[in-house]
Amino acid sequence: MKNIHLAFDLSWTQVEAQWRRPGSWVGPDYPAPGLFEDMARLAERGGVDMIFFGDGTGVPDTWQGGIDDAVQTGVAWPRFDMSPWITVMSRVTKHLGFGLTYASTFMHPFYTARLLNSLDHVTEGRMAFNVVTSQRRSDYANYGYDELVDHNLRYERLEEFVDVCRKLWTSVDPDAFVWNRDSGMVADPAKVRAINHDGQFFKVKGPLSVIPSPQVEPVVLQAGGSPRGTRAAAHVADHVFGLMKSPALMAQQRRDLDDALVAEGRDPENVGILWSTRVIVAETEHEAQALREELIRGVPREAVGVWLSHNTGFDMSTLPNRFSLRELQQRIIAANASPVGFVHLLAKEHGEDAEISIDEFFEHGLRASTGYSNTIVGTAAQVADKLEEGFEATGSRGGFMISISQAGPRAVPYNLVSQLVPELQRRGRYRRSYEGQTLKENLAS
Ligand SMILES: Cc1cc2nc3c(=O)[nH]c(=O)nc-3n(C[C@H](O)[C@H](O)[C@H](O)COP(=O)(O)O)c2cc1C
Repeated sequence: MKNIHLAFDLSWTQVEAQWRRPGSWVGPDYPAPGLFEDMARLAERGGVDMIFFGDGTGVPDTWQGGIDDAVQTGVAWPRFDMSPWITVMSRVTKHLGFGLTYASTFMHPFYTARLLNSLDHVTEGRMAFNVVTSQRRSDYANYGYDELVDHNLRYERLEEFVDVCRKLWTSVDPDAFVWNRDSGMVADPAKVRAINHDGQFFKVKGPLSVIPSPQVEPVVLQAGGSPRGTRAAAHVADHVFGLMKSPALMAQQRRDLDDALVAEGRDPENVGILWSTRVIVAETEHEAQALREELIRGVPREAVGVWLSHNTGFDMSTLPNRFSLRELQQRIIAANASPVGFVHLLAKEHGEDAEISIDEFFEHGLRASTGYSNTIVGTAAQVADKLEEGFEATGSRGGFMISISQAGPRAVPYNLVSQLVPELQRRGRYRRSYEGQTLKENLAS
Protein backbone atom coordinates (compact mmCIF):
# COMPACT_ATOMS: atom_id res chain seq x y z
CA MET A 1 0.00 0.00 0.00
CA LYS A 2 1.47 3.32 -1.02
CA ASN A 3 1.85 6.30 1.25
CA ILE A 4 -0.22 9.43 0.90
CA HIS A 5 2.02 12.47 0.63
CA LEU A 6 1.01 15.76 2.17
CA ALA A 7 2.02 19.32 1.38
CA PHE A 8 0.75 22.45 3.10
CA ASP A 9 -0.15 25.41 0.96
CA LEU A 10 0.95 28.56 2.75
CA SER A 11 0.45 30.75 -0.31
CA TRP A 12 -1.63 33.03 1.83
CA THR A 13 -2.17 32.90 5.53
CA GLN A 14 -3.99 36.15 5.98
CA VAL A 15 -6.59 36.39 3.22
CA GLU A 16 -10.23 35.38 2.93
CA ALA A 17 -12.11 35.14 6.17
CA GLN A 18 -9.25 33.29 7.80
CA TRP A 19 -7.47 36.40 8.88
CA ARG A 20 -10.55 37.53 10.82
CA ARG A 21 -10.34 34.57 13.16
CA PRO A 22 -8.34 34.44 16.38
CA GLY A 23 -4.84 33.05 15.97
CA SER A 24 -4.28 34.41 12.47
CA TRP A 25 -1.15 36.28 11.50
CA VAL A 26 -2.05 39.93 11.21
CA GLY A 27 -0.62 43.33 12.00
CA PRO A 28 2.99 43.47 13.12
CA ASP A 29 3.16 39.65 13.36
CA TYR A 30 3.11 39.25 9.62
CA PRO A 31 5.45 38.41 7.86
CA ALA A 32 7.95 38.01 10.72
CA PRO A 33 10.42 35.21 9.89
CA GLY A 34 9.97 33.63 13.33
CA LEU A 35 6.35 32.78 12.54
CA PHE A 36 7.42 30.87 9.48
CA GLU A 37 10.11 29.08 11.49
CA ASP A 38 7.44 27.89 13.93
CA MET A 39 5.26 26.71 11.08
CA ALA A 40 8.14 24.83 9.44
CA ARG A 41 8.99 23.01 12.69
CA LEU A 42 5.38 21.97 13.11
CA ALA A 43 5.03 20.79 9.52
CA GLU A 44 8.15 18.69 9.92
CA ARG A 45 6.81 17.21 13.13
CA GLY A 46 3.80 16.14 11.04
CA GLY A 47 6.00 14.43 8.41
CA VAL A 48 4.85 16.84 5.73
CA ASP A 49 6.70 16.63 2.40
CA MET A 50 6.67 20.29 1.63
CA ILE A 51 5.42 23.75 2.43
CA PHE A 52 4.30 25.37 -0.79
CA PHE A 53 4.14 29.00 -1.83
CA GLY A 54 2.21 29.89 -4.97
CA ASP A 55 2.75 33.24 -6.57
CA GLY A 56 1.29 36.03 -8.61
CA THR A 57 2.69 39.53 -8.53
CA GLY A 58 -0.26 41.71 -9.46
CA VAL A 59 -2.82 43.21 -7.12
CA PRO A 60 -6.13 42.20 -8.72
CA ASP A 61 -7.56 45.04 -10.83
CA THR A 62 -10.00 43.45 -13.27
CA TRP A 63 -13.08 43.89 -11.02
CA GLN A 64 -14.46 47.37 -11.72
CA GLY A 65 -11.19 48.16 -13.46
CA GLY A 66 -9.32 49.01 -10.25
CA ILE A 67 -7.58 47.69 -7.16
CA ASP A 68 -9.70 49.30 -4.43
CA ASP A 69 -11.85 46.30 -3.46
CA ALA A 70 -8.86 43.95 -3.63
CA VAL A 71 -6.86 46.23 -1.38
CA GLN A 72 -9.72 46.75 1.03
CA THR A 73 -10.76 43.12 1.38
CA GLY A 74 -7.29 41.55 1.09
CA VAL A 75 -7.72 39.45 -2.04
CA ALA A 76 -4.48 37.92 -3.34
CA TRP A 77 -2.41 40.43 -1.53
CA PRO A 78 -0.09 41.16 0.22
CA ARG A 79 2.26 38.68 -1.33
CA PHE A 80 6.05 38.36 -1.11
CA ASP A 81 8.81 36.63 -2.99
CA MET A 82 9.15 33.82 -0.46
CA SER A 83 12.71 32.70 -1.26
CA PRO A 84 14.29 34.48 1.76
CA TRP A 85 11.70 32.98 4.11
CA ILE A 86 12.46 29.54 2.72
CA THR A 87 16.12 29.89 3.67
CA VAL A 88 15.06 30.86 7.19
CA MET A 89 12.69 27.89 7.49
CA SER A 90 15.28 25.49 6.15
CA ARG A 91 17.68 26.39 8.96
CA VAL A 92 15.30 25.07 11.64
CA THR A 93 14.33 21.85 9.82
CA LYS A 94 16.13 18.88 8.25
CA HIS A 95 13.61 17.09 6.03
CA LEU A 96 10.80 19.44 5.14
CA GLY A 97 10.75 20.52 1.49
CA PHE A 98 9.83 23.92 0.05
CA GLY A 99 7.90 24.74 -3.10
CA LEU A 100 8.47 28.11 -4.75
CA THR A 101 6.60 29.51 -7.74
CA TYR A 102 7.80 31.64 -10.64
CA ALA A 103 6.10 32.40 -13.94
CA SER A 104 8.02 31.37 -17.05
CA THR A 105 6.13 34.08 -18.94
CA PHE A 106 7.97 36.84 -17.06
CA MET A 107 11.18 35.39 -15.67
CA HIS A 108 14.39 34.47 -17.44
CA PRO A 109 15.58 30.85 -17.18
CA PHE A 110 19.21 31.78 -16.46
CA TYR A 111 18.34 33.86 -13.42
CA THR A 112 15.75 31.33 -12.23
CA ALA A 113 18.02 28.31 -12.66
CA ARG A 114 20.79 30.06 -10.75
CA LEU A 115 18.48 31.12 -7.91
CA LEU A 116 17.03 27.63 -7.54
CA ASN A 117 20.52 26.14 -7.50
CA SER A 118 21.41 28.50 -4.63
CA LEU A 119 18.24 27.64 -2.72
CA ASP A 120 18.83 23.93 -3.22
CA HIS A 121 22.29 24.39 -1.67
CA VAL A 122 21.01 26.35 1.31
CA THR A 123 18.14 23.93 1.97
CA GLU A 124 20.47 20.95 1.40
CA GLY A 125 18.39 19.43 -1.37
CA ARG A 126 14.85 20.31 -0.40
CA MET A 127 13.65 22.64 -3.17
CA ALA A 128 10.77 22.33 -5.57
CA PHE A 129 10.06 24.76 -8.40
CA ASN A 130 6.41 25.28 -9.37
CA VAL A 131 6.55 26.70 -12.86
CA VAL A 132 3.42 28.54 -13.97
CA THR A 133 2.45 30.65 -16.96
CA SER A 134 0.16 33.10 -15.10
CA GLN A 135 -3.37 33.68 -16.30
CA ARG A 136 -3.87 36.99 -14.53
CA ARG A 137 -3.91 40.34 -16.23
CA SER A 138 -2.51 42.27 -13.26
CA ASP A 139 0.61 40.06 -13.27
CA TYR A 140 1.15 40.79 -16.97
CA ALA A 141 0.75 44.52 -16.39
CA ASN A 142 3.82 44.48 -14.11
CA TYR A 143 5.97 43.04 -16.89
CA GLY A 144 5.07 45.29 -19.79
CA TYR A 145 2.04 43.51 -21.25
CA ASP A 146 -1.34 45.11 -21.92
CA GLU A 147 -2.96 41.74 -22.65
CA LEU A 148 -2.43 38.14 -21.66
CA VAL A 149 -0.09 36.18 -23.92
CA ASP A 150 -1.89 33.55 -26.02
CA HIS A 151 -2.58 30.42 -23.94
CA ASN A 152 -0.71 28.00 -26.27
CA LEU A 153 2.20 30.32 -26.81
CA ARG A 154 2.82 30.75 -23.09
CA TYR A 155 2.98 26.97 -22.68
CA GLU A 156 5.50 26.75 -25.52
CA ARG A 157 7.62 29.28 -23.67
CA LEU A 158 7.18 27.35 -20.40
CA GLU A 159 8.46 24.14 -22.00
CA GLU A 160 11.51 25.85 -23.48
CA PHE A 161 12.09 27.67 -20.19
CA VAL A 162 12.35 24.42 -18.23
CA ASP A 163 14.41 22.76 -20.98
CA VAL A 164 16.93 25.62 -20.66
CA CYS A 165 16.94 25.39 -16.85
CA ARG A 166 17.64 21.65 -17.06
CA LYS A 167 20.47 22.14 -19.54
CA LEU A 168 21.96 24.74 -17.19
CA TRP A 169 21.57 22.62 -14.04
CA THR A 170 23.47 19.80 -15.77
CA SER A 171 26.06 22.01 -17.48
CA VAL A 172 28.52 21.36 -14.64
CA ASP A 173 29.10 17.72 -13.69
CA PRO A 174 28.66 16.92 -9.99
CA ASP A 175 32.32 15.77 -9.78
CA ALA A 176 33.74 18.72 -11.75
CA PHE A 177 35.17 20.48 -8.71
CA VAL A 178 38.40 19.03 -7.33
CA TRP A 179 39.85 21.93 -5.29
CA ASN A 180 43.32 20.40 -5.47
CA ARG A 181 45.67 22.62 -3.44
CA ASP A 182 48.77 20.82 -4.76
CA SER A 183 48.03 21.05 -8.47
CA GLY A 184 46.12 24.32 -8.23
CA MET A 185 43.14 22.91 -10.09
CA VAL A 186 39.73 24.16 -9.03
CA ALA A 187 37.49 22.38 -11.54
CA ASP A 188 38.03 20.10 -14.52
CA PRO A 189 37.24 22.01 -17.77
CA ALA A 190 36.19 18.73 -19.42
CA LYS A 191 33.29 18.59 -16.98
CA VAL A 192 31.96 22.09 -17.50
CA ARG A 193 30.15 22.87 -20.76
CA ALA A 194 28.47 25.78 -22.48
CA ILE A 195 24.91 24.91 -23.43
CA ASN A 196 24.70 27.19 -26.49
CA HIS A 197 20.92 27.19 -26.43
CA ASP A 198 19.33 29.12 -29.28
CA GLY A 199 15.57 28.60 -29.32
CA GLN A 200 12.29 30.32 -30.07
CA PHE A 201 12.23 32.35 -26.85
CA PHE A 202 15.69 32.20 -25.27
CA LYS A 203 19.32 32.44 -26.29
CA VAL A 204 21.59 31.27 -23.48
CA LYS A 205 25.26 30.39 -23.73
CA GLY A 206 25.93 28.93 -20.27
CA PRO A 207 27.32 27.12 -18.38
CA LEU A 208 25.67 27.90 -15.06
CA SER A 209 28.38 29.53 -12.97
CA VAL A 210 27.86 27.42 -9.87
CA ILE A 211 28.55 24.15 -8.10
CA PRO A 212 25.77 21.58 -8.74
CA SER A 213 23.34 21.45 -5.83
CA PRO A 214 22.41 18.36 -3.80
CA GLN A 215 19.42 17.49 -6.01
CA VAL A 216 21.19 18.89 -9.11
CA GLU A 217 17.71 19.83 -10.37
CA PRO A 218 14.96 20.89 -7.97
CA VAL A 219 11.72 18.91 -8.06
CA VAL A 220 9.77 20.53 -10.92
CA LEU A 221 6.04 20.95 -10.34
CA GLN A 222 3.41 22.05 -12.85
CA ALA A 223 -0.33 22.60 -12.54
CA GLY A 224 -1.67 22.86 -16.09
CA GLY A 225 -5.29 21.71 -16.21
CA SER A 226 -6.23 22.32 -19.87
CA PRO A 227 -5.23 19.84 -22.60
CA ARG A 228 -2.27 22.07 -23.59
CA GLY A 229 -1.34 22.62 -19.95
CA THR A 230 -1.46 18.88 -19.29
CA ARG A 231 0.90 18.25 -22.23
CA ALA A 232 3.30 20.82 -20.82
CA ALA A 233 3.09 19.23 -17.37
CA ALA A 234 3.92 15.86 -18.93
CA HIS A 235 6.95 17.42 -20.62
CA VAL A 236 8.42 19.30 -17.66
CA ALA A 237 7.05 18.07 -14.33
CA ASP A 238 8.41 15.59 -11.82
CA HIS A 239 5.09 15.86 -10.00
CA VAL A 240 1.87 17.63 -10.85
CA PHE A 241 -0.61 19.76 -8.95
CA GLY A 242 -4.31 19.22 -9.57
CA LEU A 243 -7.49 20.64 -8.11
CA MET A 244 -9.49 18.30 -5.88
CA LYS A 245 -12.77 17.35 -7.59
CA SER A 246 -15.11 14.39 -7.53
CA PRO A 247 -13.25 11.03 -7.63
CA ALA A 248 -14.57 10.50 -11.19
CA LEU A 249 -13.24 13.84 -12.47
CA MET A 250 -9.93 13.32 -10.66
CA ALA A 251 -9.62 9.87 -12.24
CA GLN A 252 -10.25 11.47 -15.65
CA GLN A 253 -7.48 14.05 -15.07
CA ARG A 254 -5.16 11.26 -13.94
CA ARG A 255 -5.90 9.31 -17.16
CA ASP A 256 -5.32 12.40 -19.31
CA LEU A 257 -2.00 13.02 -17.60
CA ASP A 258 -0.99 9.35 -17.94
CA ASP A 259 -1.71 9.47 -21.69
CA ALA A 260 0.32 12.67 -22.03
CA LEU A 261 3.21 11.15 -20.06
CA VAL A 262 3.25 8.03 -22.25
CA ALA A 263 3.28 10.27 -25.33
CA GLU A 264 6.40 11.92 -23.84
CA GLY A 265 7.97 8.47 -23.36
CA ARG A 266 7.71 8.72 -19.58
CA ASP A 267 6.48 6.21 -17.00
CA PRO A 268 3.27 7.49 -15.32
CA GLU A 269 4.04 5.38 -12.24
CA ASN A 270 6.78 7.83 -11.28
CA VAL A 271 4.72 11.00 -11.51
CA GLY A 272 2.42 11.78 -8.62
CA ILE A 273 -0.42 14.26 -8.54
CA LEU A 274 -0.74 16.36 -5.40
CA TRP A 275 -4.40 17.38 -5.26
CA SER A 276 -4.98 20.82 -3.85
CA THR A 277 -7.62 20.19 -1.24
CA ARG A 278 -9.52 22.20 1.29
CA VAL A 279 -10.11 20.33 4.50
CA ILE A 280 -11.61 21.42 7.77
CA VAL A 281 -10.84 18.96 10.53
CA ALA A 282 -12.31 19.25 13.99
CA GLU A 283 -13.07 16.99 16.94
CA THR A 284 -16.71 16.68 15.85
CA GLU A 285 -18.43 16.98 12.50
CA HIS A 286 -20.70 19.64 13.92
CA GLU A 287 -17.75 21.78 14.98
CA ALA A 288 -16.13 21.40 11.56
CA GLN A 289 -19.35 22.37 9.73
CA ALA A 290 -19.81 25.40 11.99
CA LEU A 291 -16.28 26.55 11.22
CA ARG A 292 -16.93 26.22 7.49
CA GLU A 293 -20.07 28.34 7.75
CA GLU A 294 -18.24 30.95 9.80
CA LEU A 295 -15.49 31.15 7.20
CA ILE A 296 -17.99 31.47 4.35
CA ARG A 297 -19.90 34.21 6.14
CA GLY A 298 -16.70 36.18 6.64
CA VAL A 299 -16.04 36.66 2.91
CA PRO A 300 -17.57 39.87 1.48
CA ARG A 301 -19.32 39.78 -1.91
CA GLU A 302 -16.85 42.26 -3.45
CA ALA A 303 -14.00 39.92 -2.53
CA VAL A 304 -15.70 37.15 -4.51
CA GLY A 305 -16.10 39.47 -7.51
CA VAL A 306 -12.45 40.53 -7.26
CA TRP A 307 -11.19 36.95 -7.09
CA LEU A 308 -13.35 35.58 -9.93
CA SER A 309 -12.55 38.55 -12.17
CA HIS A 310 -8.84 38.24 -11.39
CA ASN A 311 -8.78 34.56 -12.36
CA THR A 312 -10.90 34.81 -15.50
CA GLY A 313 -9.70 38.12 -16.90
CA PHE A 314 -13.31 39.22 -17.12
CA ASP A 315 -14.86 42.02 -15.07
CA MET A 316 -17.76 40.28 -13.33
CA SER A 317 -19.15 43.63 -12.17
CA THR A 318 -20.38 44.17 -15.76
CA LEU A 319 -22.56 41.04 -15.84
CA PRO A 320 -26.26 41.58 -16.59
CA ASN A 321 -28.98 40.26 -14.26
CA ARG A 322 -29.27 37.01 -16.24
CA PHE A 323 -26.80 35.51 -18.67
CA SER A 324 -25.81 32.24 -20.33
CA LEU A 325 -22.82 30.34 -19.06
CA ARG A 326 -21.73 29.49 -22.59
CA GLU A 327 -21.43 33.17 -23.47
CA LEU A 328 -19.46 33.96 -20.33
CA GLN A 329 -17.14 30.99 -20.93
CA GLN A 330 -16.49 32.21 -24.49
CA ARG A 331 -15.60 35.67 -23.25
CA ILE A 332 -13.15 34.18 -20.74
CA ILE A 333 -11.44 32.12 -23.42
CA ALA A 334 -11.30 35.20 -25.67
CA ALA A 335 -9.53 37.03 -22.82
CA ASN A 336 -6.91 34.23 -22.90
CA ALA A 337 -7.45 33.15 -19.30
CA SER A 338 -7.74 29.42 -18.70
CA PRO A 339 -10.51 27.44 -20.42
CA VAL A 340 -10.83 25.17 -17.37
CA GLY A 341 -11.65 27.43 -14.45
CA PHE A 342 -14.69 27.99 -12.26
CA VAL A 343 -17.13 29.05 -15.01
CA HIS A 344 -16.20 25.95 -17.03
CA LEU A 345 -17.02 23.75 -14.03
CA LEU A 346 -20.27 25.61 -13.48
CA ALA A 347 -21.21 25.12 -17.15
CA LYS A 348 -20.44 21.41 -16.82
CA GLU A 349 -22.63 21.18 -13.76
CA HIS A 350 -25.62 23.16 -15.08
CA GLY A 351 -25.27 22.61 -18.84
CA GLU A 352 -23.62 25.10 -21.17
CA ASP A 353 -26.90 26.60 -22.32
CA ALA A 354 -28.15 27.23 -18.81
CA GLU A 355 -29.01 30.79 -17.92
CA ILE A 356 -28.13 31.92 -14.47
CA SER A 357 -29.04 34.97 -12.41
CA ILE A 358 -26.36 37.25 -11.05
CA ASP A 359 -27.27 36.35 -7.45
CA GLU A 360 -27.04 32.62 -8.14
CA PHE A 361 -23.73 33.21 -9.88
CA PHE A 362 -22.24 35.03 -6.90
CA GLU A 363 -23.55 32.44 -4.47
CA HIS A 364 -21.81 29.68 -6.46
CA GLY A 365 -18.83 31.95 -6.89
CA LEU A 366 -18.46 32.50 -3.17
CA ARG A 367 -18.35 28.80 -2.45
CA ALA A 368 -16.21 27.95 -5.46
CA SER A 369 -13.70 30.80 -5.31
CA THR A 370 -13.06 30.20 -1.64
CA GLY A 371 -13.05 26.44 -2.25
CA TYR A 372 -15.68 25.92 0.42
CA SER A 373 -17.99 24.13 -2.04
CA ASN A 374 -15.35 21.47 -2.37
CA THR A 375 -14.02 21.37 1.16
CA ILE A 376 -13.79 18.08 3.00
CA VAL A 377 -15.34 18.81 6.34
CA GLY A 378 -15.47 16.54 9.36
CA THR A 379 -13.56 14.59 11.95
CA ALA A 380 -10.08 13.30 11.19
CA ALA A 381 -11.57 9.87 10.37
CA GLN A 382 -14.15 11.33 7.97
CA VAL A 383 -11.54 13.46 6.21
CA ALA A 384 -9.10 10.53 6.01
CA ASP A 385 -11.86 8.41 4.39
CA LYS A 386 -12.30 10.99 1.63
CA LEU A 387 -8.58 11.40 1.10
CA GLU A 388 -8.13 7.65 0.79
CA GLU A 389 -11.01 7.46 -1.68
CA GLY A 390 -9.50 10.18 -3.90
CA PHE A 391 -6.03 8.65 -3.60
CA GLU A 392 -7.19 5.20 -4.65
CA ALA A 393 -9.35 6.55 -7.49
CA THR A 394 -6.23 8.12 -8.99
CA GLY A 395 -3.85 5.17 -8.86
CA SER A 396 -2.35 5.82 -5.40
CA ARG A 397 0.39 8.10 -6.68
CA GLY A 398 1.03 11.43 -5.01
CA GLY A 399 -1.21 12.81 -2.32
CA PHE A 400 -2.73 16.09 -1.26
CA MET A 401 -1.80 19.68 -0.82
CA ILE A 402 -3.86 20.94 2.07
CA SER A 403 -4.79 24.44 1.13
CA ILE A 404 -5.63 27.72 2.66
CA SER A 405 -8.58 27.14 4.96
CA GLN A 406 -6.58 24.83 7.17
CA ALA A 407 -2.97 25.18 6.16
CA GLY A 408 -2.94 28.26 8.33
CA PRO A 409 -1.14 29.24 11.50
CA ARG A 410 -3.88 28.04 13.79
CA ALA A 411 -5.02 24.89 12.04
CA VAL A 412 -1.64 23.32 11.34
CA PRO A 413 -0.84 22.44 14.97
CA TYR A 414 -4.36 21.80 16.25
CA ASN A 415 -6.13 20.15 13.35
CA LEU A 416 -3.68 18.77 10.84
CA VAL A 417 -0.59 17.67 12.74
CA SER A 418 -2.37 16.53 15.88
CA GLN A 419 -5.53 15.03 14.35
CA LEU A 420 -5.33 14.23 10.63
CA VAL A 421 -1.73 13.00 10.50
CA PRO A 422 -2.11 10.45 13.37
CA GLU A 423 -5.32 9.16 11.74
CA LEU A 424 -3.54 8.57 8.43
CA GLN A 425 -0.65 6.93 10.28
CA ARG A 426 -3.03 4.57 12.12
CA ARG A 427 -4.30 3.47 8.72
CA GLY A 428 -0.77 2.74 7.51
CA ARG A 429 -1.16 5.42 4.84
CA TYR A 430 1.38 7.95 6.02
CA ARG A 431 5.06 8.00 6.94
CA ARG A 432 6.22 7.78 10.54
CA SER A 433 9.64 9.14 9.66
CA TYR A 434 11.20 10.66 6.57
CA GLU A 435 12.67 8.08 4.21
CA GLY A 436 15.25 10.08 2.25
CA GLN A 437 17.69 12.96 2.46
CA THR A 438 16.25 15.10 -0.30
CA LEU A 439 12.75 16.23 -1.22
CA LYS A 440 12.98 14.20 -4.44
CA GLU A 441 13.71 11.03 -2.45
CA ASN A 442 10.91 11.68 0.03
CA LEU A 443 8.32 12.33 -2.69
CA ALA A 444 9.37 9.15 -4.50
CA SER A 445 8.77 6.88 -1.51
C1 LIG B 1 -2.58 23.52 -6.94
C2 LIG B 1 -2.43 24.60 -7.95
C3 LIG B 1 -1.53 25.63 -7.71
C4 LIG B 1 -1.38 26.68 -8.62
N1 LIG B 1 -0.52 27.68 -8.35
C5 LIG B 1 -0.44 28.74 -9.19
C6 LIG B 1 0.38 29.86 -8.85
O1 LIG B 1 1.00 29.89 -7.81
N2 LIG B 1 0.44 30.91 -9.73
C7 LIG B 1 -0.26 30.91 -10.91
O2 LIG B 1 -0.16 31.87 -11.65
N3 LIG B 1 -1.05 29.85 -11.25
C8 LIG B 1 -1.16 28.78 -10.41
N4 LIG B 1 -1.99 27.73 -10.73
C9 LIG B 1 -2.70 27.74 -12.03
C10 LIG B 1 -2.11 26.70 -13.00
O3 LIG B 1 -0.74 26.95 -13.24
C11 LIG B 1 -2.88 26.66 -14.33
O4 LIG B 1 -2.74 27.87 -15.01
C12 LIG B 1 -4.34 26.36 -14.11
O5 LIG B 1 -4.46 25.09 -13.49
C13 LIG B 1 -5.15 26.36 -15.41
O6 LIG B 1 -4.66 25.43 -16.35
P1 LIG B 1 -4.15 25.87 -17.79
O7 LIG B 1 -3.05 26.88 -17.59
O8 LIG B 1 -3.65 24.60 -18.41
O9 LIG B 1 -5.29 26.47 -18.54
C14 LIG B 1 -2.15 26.68 -9.82
C15 LIG B 1 -3.06 25.64 -10.05
C16 LIG B 1 -3.22 24.61 -9.14
C17 LIG B 1 -4.21 23.51 -9.44
